[in-house]
Amino acid sequence: MKMTPAFVIVGALLVFWASAFIIVGIPSLTMKETPSEIWRPFTPLEARGHRLYVENGCSYCHSQFIRVIDWGIGAERIAKAGDYVGIEPAILGSERTGPDLSQEGGEHSDDWNRAHFLNPRNTTPISLMPAWDFLSDGEIEALMAYVQGLGGKAADLRVKRQRDWKRQAVAAYAAGVDANIEWLHGQVPEVWRRMPNPYPATEAALQRGKRIYQQLCINCHSPIGDGNGPAQPHLNPPPLNFTILRRHLVENRYIGGIFYYQIMNGVTGTAMPYFKKHLESEKIWDLANYLAVSFVGYTDANTDPRGIDASYESGWVNRYQPPVLAPGR
Ligand code: HEC
Ligand code: HEC
Repeated sequence: MKMTPAFVIVGALLVFWASAFIIVGIPSLTMKETPSEIWRPFTPLEARGHRLYVENGCSYCHSQFIRVIDWGIGAERIAKAGDYVGIEPAILGSERTGPDLSQEGGEHSDDWNRAHFLNPRNTTPISLMPAWDFLSDGEIEALMAYVQGLGGKAADLRVKRQRDWKRQAVAAYAAGVDANIEWLHGQVPEVWRRMPNPYPATEAALQRGKRIYQQLCINCHSPIGDGNGPAQPHLNPPPLNFTILRRHLVENRYIGGIFYYQIMNGVTGTAMPYFKKHLESEKIWDLANYLAVSFVGYTDANTDPRGIDASYESGWVNRYQPPVLAPGR
């Protein structure tokens, strides 16, 4: 067979169309427009938020689909074609400079989201996400409605849970300092409330705790722990003032387990996020020691009864009792 130019061009086009058919044609022919079990249509406000999401290039940093290989933060569900029915354009994205947002709805309270859009450093001091404070209030609300709807019906349940708890948190805050502390600590199971910090509050542990505090907590709880960081004006209830805990905790003796539990799980309904997916256990205990020593002025680290023993802890040396040797050996 002779390789004429016409033959090469026709051949190349055939190869091109064949691969295009396999990559694009077959998937679009087999794609079903059947909604998945979590799908629901956008509300008009969410549709406006979706347009803003596209226009502002959020997808340059955030994906909205999870494959089996992507398990990680925000990756609670494998994406299905039926999750995206009727969304034009379906903005899947491929970059993950920021976390995947396909199940973002209800991860955070509304006020966390508002403070975060106005300036991501408000809620996440080390964030590199740009601020969207040039948007109007209405546009921020639309973007927030859209983000709180990501995850469809499953997100609706999480958002409802946040808003139900928010009513309680706001009422407890309005009832005064003592009632609020009682409410907050009432959320912590008894076993955690009676657990001291198993790690000694060494100089190194406190430095580690301070560093994490500066990276993740300082713009809400403030450098002096009084809750008046730059995020405070946007949050209701405002971030906790740790210094008011002194009286309560010194009376009750234990503080480490309460801090651990609250940092691990967050306080649902308030802007206080959970950190169990971001921080390893020792870092949470270091934070608990840092808060206790720096802001409350009291730590129960290494008091008895001891909390969970870690497999490696420097405190072990202090507790080690040399065996009593029999005389004459
Ligand atoms: C330059 C990259 C970048 C762009 C653009 C960007 N983000 Fe982000 N985003 C991030 C990073 C990094 C984080 C994680 C740190 C944080 O919480 O701010 C994040 C976090 C988030 C979170 C919180 C996720 C969670 O639960 O922790 C939401 C919601 C969010 N972004 C929405 C948006 C929206 C909406 C836009 C567009 C208006 C946008 N982002 C644009 C980088 C980006
Ligand atoms: C976006 C703001 C925000 C960020 C970031 C934040 N917090 Fe909070 N925090 C709050 C709010 C709001 C509350 C609940 C206040 C209330 O209900 O009165 C709270 C409550 C707490 C409590 C509960 C204390 C108790 O006695 O029950 C602890 C402990 C705590 N935060 C520690 C931290 C630590 C440590 C970090 C960083 C790793 C952090 N927070 C980051 C806003 C924040």
